[in-house]
Amino acid sequence: MEVIIQPTSEQASVIGAHIIANLVRDNPACVLGLATGGTPIPMYNELVRMHREEGLDFSRVTTFNLDEYVGLRPEQPQSYHAFMWEHLFSHINVARERIHIPNGMAPDIVAECEAYEAAIKAAGGIDLQVLGIGSGGHIGFNEKSSSLASRTRIKTLTAQTQEDNARFFGRPEDVPMHVITMGVGTIMETRQVLLLAFGQHKAQAIVDAVEGPISAMHPASILQMHPVAKALLDDGAASKLALNEYYRWVYDHKPDWQRFVRKRSKG
Ligand code: GLP
Repeated sequence: MEVIIQPTSEQASVIGAHIIANLVRDNPACVLGLATGGTPIPMYNELVRMHREEGLDFSRVTTFNLDEYVGLRPEQPQSYHAFMWEHLFSHINVARERIHIPNGMAPDIVAECEAYEAAIKAAGGIDLQVLGIGSGGHIGFNEKSSSLASRTRIKTLTAQTQEDNARFFGRPEDVPMHVITMGVGTIMETRQVLLLAFGQHKAQAIVDAVEGPISAMHPASILQMHPVAKALLDDGAASKLALNEYYRWVYDHKPDWQRFVRKRSKG
């Protein structure tokens, strides 16, 4: 995994936005996999700025979100539908018909999950998947012990995840028990993964994901088998990594052609 460590989450988020913007400029009809949670918000803000100030064009981009709560209507503020419109979709020129988020209100959840997988396939697969990480090491809502080959399906949240997400709901018991999430196998089929983690409270999940043994007990650890996975971290999230200094050394000595922040001529 390529590990990129920046002093602050803001600086790491700007790099993440450049990686996405470069993809969108190179392939305007690309397919983006998107994530929710507090972590990607500054990166989405930067993409919105690039759209407004630099004309970054999302009109041909297709999106697939990782997950959604079962039983929440899209207009409910805690739904991931509402989150995505609030933080990204309302502010860029993405076409509504090319946005995909699992439907947590689907009467037949199994059919909804199968249709979601089929839609990803029909779109040609996901070019770049944004991921956050839960404090217990989950990606999407693939909790500990999730099959590393799993596909989009219903999952039951752990008490820890309900507690972590209670800040959006008021009380942990108000957080839905069930979710629809892309599977670990679904995520592994994406062509590029961008894992974001910020803050000391993510340091253990990151060391398990990046340097630990591959295990369903740490679903993010399977990303070590992904051919193009980047972990974008701030100092806090990177603080427990054994090879911390080496990752910084590698990033500082990147050849110019491999750098993410491209010089752009005006106009
Ligand atoms: C939820 C989401 C994940 C996200 C995680 C961490 O569980 N389903 O996609 O990565 O929260 O959220 P945060 O970024 O707020 O720490």
